[in-house]
Amino acid sequence: MAQRLSEGGPVRRFRAARAVQTTKEREGREMPATIVVGTQWGDEGKGRFVDLFSKEMSMVVRYQGGHNAGHTIVVDGESFALQLIPSGILYPHITPVIGNGVVVDPKVMLAEIAMLESRGVNCDKLRLSGNAHLIFPYHQLLDRMTERWLGRNKLGTTKRGIGPAYADKAARVGIRVQDLYDEKIFVEKLRIVLRETNAVLAKVYNQLPVDEDEIVEAYLGTYRDAIAPYVTDTVNLVHESLEAGEHVLFEGAQATFLDLDHGTYPYVTSSNPVAGGATVGSGIGPRHVDRVVGVGKAYLTRVGSGPFPTELFDDLGDRIVDIGHEYGVNTKRRRRPGWFDAVMMRHAVRLNSLSELAITKLDVLDSFDTIKVCVAYELDGERIERMPDNQSVIHKCTPIYEELPGWKTDVSASTEPHHLPANARSYIEFLAEQCGVPISLLGVGPSRDQYVQLAS
Ligand code: GDP
Ligand code: IMO
Ligand code: MG
Repeated sequence: MAQRLSEGGPVRRFRAARAVQTTKEREGREMPATIVVGTQWGDEGKGRFVDLFSKEMSMVVRYQGGHNAGHTIVVDGESFALQLIPSGILYPHITPVIGNGVVVDPKVMLAEIAMLESRGVNCDKLRLSGNAHLIFPYHQLLDRMTERWLGRNKLGTTKRGIGPAYADKAARVGIRVQDLYDEKIFVEKLRIVLRETNAVLAKVYNQLPVDEDEIVEAYLGTYRDAIAPYVTDTVNLVHESLEAGEHVLFEGAQATFLDLDHGTYPYVTSSNPVAGGATVGSGIGPRHVDRVVGVGKAYLTRVGSGPFPTELFDDLGDRIVDIGHEYGVNTKRRRRPGWFDAVMMRHAVRLNSLSELAITKLDVLDSFDTIKVCVAYELDGERIERMPDNQSVIHKCTPIYEELPGWKTDVSASTEPHHLPANARSYIEFLAEQCGVPISLLGVGPSRDQYVQLAS
């Protein structure tokens, strides 16, 4: 394995991004913990902004989800797609932490480490919580089976076993990373869970039972030792870092409207991506956090099933997909496109207590004559400004749009607010006003340096 930078090892150095002016610098106060959270249905560009903020952080902690996530970072033309490993990994000074709230497939984690190391990125500082739950092949099989059985009502999951792994956690038959290091406990727990799981697989889904010995061989024979150097008490690690006055970033996966409690249930993931999930999924209290950055696209996309009031089914939608390359990072599925929904975003501002918003993919709208923003919904002839909490009602809502003029200019080389055309600035000001939150950063291209910092 490659040595650490401090040991003079062959750690690849990426050209550092321009400095981001932090809330702390702007307001002259301490900023121990920052949360970066998706505000829509995922794939907003969280990874690229976590990478950007990492320059000023010491630690980046993933707090929920698993390898259903795909977070992209583009540096010097080279693209990194991360599923489990925190997006601060490209900076040698960062301690990347996989927190207790994450569900981990050790095979995927090891493959991701190998991928990064083969590309010169040192992963020695990576830390994994012993309390994180493990994903097993039977979780993936159950995910596939339940989707198949749901037929046309399927959720469109990533089939990574995320739902079944969290279900086992909640049912208290999950197996944690720490269990790998007590063989007797591991085998006992596995036997208990397989007794029921194999019965379900055989009797409900007509599948062959999962072989206990094969799992024991892979998990105790291979993964246990391979992941051992990374396993630690991450709650203590995070607190030590905070107590030392270091800055810690909590990286959300998925997004607000995929949240198990606050999303468009049942078309959600099985964890809590909202900012509140960062405390549970990493073991800190809410008083550490004083900055919550929401990441949203300048339009909207969604992968998988579920309601989507501003969805576009026409050529404009196809244009967004083509220009924005709206295909899943890992599953390669086409993302469903739509216009920016300010009703949803106002709700996301409340649910996450957002202090600011980072808007990505402004450049994707460069060629549009006009751009629509949903400012309210119409329901039975009435205008409603807030997102209804009843799912059946959401299905009946139709968007009320305001149409803004496009800018018809390439913004991808903009690095300062004054580089942006007036109509692009007006569009962003309109979004900020509609959503009731300052917009502090704009993405104008996928690369680390393709952003504009706005005064907030
Ligand atoms: P995440 O899951 O929220 O980290 O986002 P993904 O990586 O799944 O999807 C975002 C996609 O948009 C990736 O391909 C990024 O490289 C790309 N991207 C991020 N920001 C921008 C931007 O400002 N402009 C453009 N054109 N692409 C961007
Ligand atoms: P990042 O972190 C977009 C969606 C799936 C499906 C639903 C449930 O890259 O933004 P799951 O496999 O979690 O049980 O699937 O959630 N989904 C995502 N959509 N981005 C993601 O992650 C997603 N992770 C899950 O498409 O609709
Ligand atoms: Mg993604």
